[in-house]
Amino acid sequence: VVVKAETGGVNSINPDIRKNEDKVVDSVVLSELAKPLTPYCRCWRSGTFPLCDGSHVKHNKATGDNVGPLLLKK
Ligand code: FES
Repeated sequence: VVVKAETGGVNSINPDIRKNEDKVVDSVVLSELAKPLTPYCRCWRSGTFPLCDGSHVKHNKATGDNVGPLLLKK
């Protein structure tokens, strides 16, 4: 199934982050992390994407899902 990013079909994981891009890609230089432990979003609901802002808690409560961030350690 091909889902156009700008339409956000029923199979879309990303509800609204950077929908003008064909593919959302981020890179991280580990030695330049601002904090010793930095959480990166994997639920696609963060208002600070690609960083986690805790929005996964609300998503998990609403859906019964169990997603959480990727923690990058410096
Ligand atoms: Fe998406 Fe935390 S906000 S994993």
